[in-house]
Amino acid sequence: MSDPQNRSRTTHCGLLRPEHEGREVTLFGWVQRQRDMGHLLFVDLRDREGIAQIVFSTAKPELLEAAKKLRPEYVVAVSGVVRRREPNAVNAEMATGEVEVEAGGFEILNVSKVPPFQIADPVQASEELRMKYRYIDLRRPSKQHALRLRHEAALRTRNYLSGRGFLEIETPFLTKSTPEGARDYLVPSRIYKGRFYALPQSPQIFKQTLMISGFDRYFQIVRCFRDEDLRSERQPEFTQIDIEMSFVDREDIFSLVDGMLASVFEIIGEKVETPVPRLTFPESMDKYGTDKPDLRIKAEITDLTAEASTSRSEVIRKVIDAGGTLRGLRVPRAAGLSRSHLDKIGQKAQELGAKGVIWLKKQDEFRSSLKLEEAEARLIWEKMKARDEDLVLLVADRREIALPVLSHFRKELLQGQAEKGFSFVWVTDFPLFEWSDEEKRIVSVHHPFTSPLADDIPLLDSEPLRVRARAYDIVCNGYEIGGGSVRIHDFALQRRIFDILGLGEKEIEEKFGYFLEALGYGTPPHGGIAMGFDRIVMLLAGEESIREVIPFPKTTSALCLLTGSPAEVSERQLDELGLKLKK
Ligand code: AMO
Repeated sequence: MSDPQNRSRTTHCGLLRPEHEGREVTLFGWVQRQRDMGHLLFVDLRDREGIAQIVFSTAKPELLEAAKKLRPEYVVAVSGVVRRREPNAVNAEMATGEVEVEAGGFEILNVSKVPPFQIADPVQASEELRMKYRYIDLRRPSKQHALRLRHEAALRTRNYLSGRGFLEIETPFLTKSTPEGARDYLVPSRIYKGRFYALPQSPQIFKQTLMISGFDRYFQIVRCFRDEDLRSERQPEFTQIDIEMSFVDREDIFSLVDGMLASVFEIIGEKVETPVPRLTFPESMDKYGTDKPDLRIKAEITDLTAEASTSRSEVIRKVIDAGGTLRGLRVPRAAGLSRSHLDKIGQKAQELGAKGVIWLKKQDEFRSSLKLEEAEARLIWEKMKARDEDLVLLVADRREIALPVLSHFRKELLQGQAEKGFSFVWVTDFPLFEWSDEEKRIVSVHHPFTSPLADDIPLLDSEPLRVRARAYDIVCNGYEIGGGSVRIHDFALQRRIFDILGLGEKEIEEKFGYFLEALGYGTPPHGGIAMGFDRIVMLLAGEESIREVIPFPKTTSALCLLTGSPAEVSERQLDELGLKLKK
């Protein structure tokens, strides 16, 4: 083949279709695999769009011999003519499966070592190996697809918000601590020894400052940094679609985000029903035992406290008399669960802090792990609307324990009965404060700039834990994909909240610096939200971990296996920064 520098790609491998028949094409790509039949050699050539089959034959014996040197992951340029495959050679599984390219020439642009694992979906390699060789892992079609979805979701978001008057404005990474409740990543200052920047946990204070500066509608697709325990849906650096608006109430934010999600999910042909339904926080807890309910699972938790008030069971009576509650979950078609499975459920409930789980079945007569009188069992069974083939799980405990325990089993035992697709819900009216056992004081549930509901302001001093916030989360399939609030724009109210949180003058100055003062210079009413961009892309891609849709993620132990970070640094660097490591 002539010098590939002088040739340009006519099309991508994955885009070849029958309409290209007879056309001379030049393709560039990686060898996926080769099949040597002696007189024929088939090479699957892969690029970001997919795979094309190239055929070398004895029609060009020298070319055939030369092509036999090709190995997986060699980078090659191939030119040839597109032809239709014989009917019995059509591969309906491949987008390009009706055609092949009869090679006229090729050039090896680069060789490759034998890759550490085969580049195919589903992948066989361990996650550790994939992360170490992430550049190879990313060659897989599912990864190419995921990062493309990420790009398209970002593009749609930008277009949607820009079309509604939002400006994308950057905020600093080298900044001061931001109050989102996780630990900060710190960056030592070389110039000011002993002083540190903090990487932002979110642009919260800056976006509010931008409202004070009159920008009115801000957004940013922005990296945030949080040093917290990692899970499948948490990374130390992650991306938010961060939004703030002036002169709005929460309804404006709900409808903005509903429309944005509808636009983004259209990418995968999914229609988001808007307006997205809403649940208040207490409703969500009572019905689903969690503030992140997966509404694809229809089952709800039932409150049996009234029925339990006349219980003859000592176990239940004790709990109810101490102000506790009895809650039940009907597990359809689970009457056949084995004794050992039921024992495991009991153990799990104990691990989650409950005294245990009571199970109830009806087979000719009622059977239960707790001695229950027939009439009582029937009362519960009927209230639960249970059928003979069902299992009922009951937890008698404090509300804060009973609900999350049943929520756990709702998810674990009913996941298989979840509807397909996506189920969005807004959860509203979170409490403004909660008691922190760790800190032995009242803390903000979200962050301290969240506005209380106007109706609850009179409770601020007398019963702060009953004050509801103008805060909301949006949840999809059990994942919290966004959260925000209407903010406090009144200087005096913000001060009062800091007081209730027990922050002194010095601490306020240290933590929030200029911000309290800025509030005094004509702050407009404002509110906003931040969406978890990685989680949204994870849902779009049908993945179960955000690591699968982040190009270069960290492991659950916060390591980058590709670069080996975090890494030790030299004495000289430490010296320059005025730092000394503790032994
Ligand atoms: P919040 O802390 O709720 O709110 O974060 C907003 C959304 O960001 C996502 N998220 C994460 N995603 C991946 N890894 C993480 N470690 C992680 N932490 C959070 C979640 C979450 O819903 N400043 C406020 C927003 C506001 O009030 O406007 C904030 O950051 O999807």
